[in-house]
Amino acid sequence: MKTIAQLQNVTKVIKGKKIIDSLSFEVNEGEVFGFLGPNGAGKTTTIRMIVGLMKITEGDVLISGKSIQKDFADAISDVGAIVENPELYKFLSGYQNLKHFARMHKGITEERIKEVVELVGLTSRIKDKVKTYSLGMRQRLGIAQCLLHKPKLLILDEPTNGLDPAGIREIRAYIRKLAAEEGMAVIVSSHLLSEMEMMCDRIAILQSGKLVDVQDIRAFVGGTEQIYQIDVADASLIKASIKTFDPAIQFEVKDNQVQLAIEKERIPALIKTLVEDGLDIFGVMPISKTLEDRFLEITNDKGETVNV
Ligand SMILES: Nc1ncnc2c1ncn2[C@@H]1O[C@H](COP(=O)(O)OP(=O)(O)OP(=O)(O)O)[C@@H](O)[C@H]1O
Ligand SMILES: [Mg+2]
Repeated sequence: MKTIAQLQNVTKVIKGKKIIDSLSFEVNEGEVFGFLGPNGAGKTTTIRMIVGLMKITEGDVLISGKSIQKDFADAISDVGAIVENPELYKFLSGYQNLKHFARMHKGITEERIKEVVELVGLTSRIKDKVKTYSLGMRQRLGIAQCLLHKPKLLILDEPTNGLDPAGIREIRAYIRKLAAEEGMAVIVSSHLLSEMEMMCDRIAILQSGKLVDVQDIRAFVGGTEQIYQIDVADASLIKASIKTFDPAIQFEVKDNQVQLAIEKERIPALIKTLVEDGLDIFGVMPISKTLEDRFLEITNDKGETVNV
């Protein structure tokens, strides 16, 4: 796997205050990398440094091995980014916007413009003025715009902000497609964990300018074991019952609820055992909040507002 972006101890100090504290991580080809953190964590600041919109106080960012500080023009030629909002001319058509942007780069053909328009699904509306576009369509046009010069790294700062569930799903699909079909490395920032879980291969959790954790999403959603919650009338009996069923099962009892990690295929057998042991069961529900719990733990500890 090829590394496209590399952050090396990236630090930002503004007026004596450390806004970003020694961030290091790598993003690979074909990977969607989530940058997750509550408001004010430093996501936009980090992105601004990656794309050279803000000076790095200490450390460096390498794009395809080229330093954004020492070799800016070369390094940035591999990057496409939307920081906060896409910059579009509302009174021009989508096509005119792309044409305008294409002029700023060398070698963008008419063919390429057509290609990116198709890729983001705007073909039927591309001749219409941007002011008639929905928010989701504007986001897609913004993505098309930063894909024109075939970047190896795409950076999107909160791309689903303000979109409805259908719009979010759409953007998510395009992002996954870009990584899978074009082999692009994509960095997406968000303060919404649920969204990140569905879109990313790995996520980095940022809190007060510090990297708290980098997690592989597949380890959570791709594993065969799932966390289930079982509601019973009286939890005092359930411990022994689960232990007889399989002493290796990890579980936790809280009030009249039990949470355990088990493969889906074994659930019917487990329920049978519990019923045979005389337990009254009110419900069995799959839950997958391991990552969410962790995120809340991390962020709540420090008294920050979180929006999950
Ligand atoms: N130019 C600046 N001068 C002073 N402080 C700044 C500046 N830019 C950012 N900050 C501070 O840096 C911190 C991180 O801000 P940043 O915008 O990067 O957060 P964020 O994670 O993108 O938040 P959000 O989810 O709200 O977009 C904040 O406390 C912010 O006030
Ligand atoms: Mg931001």
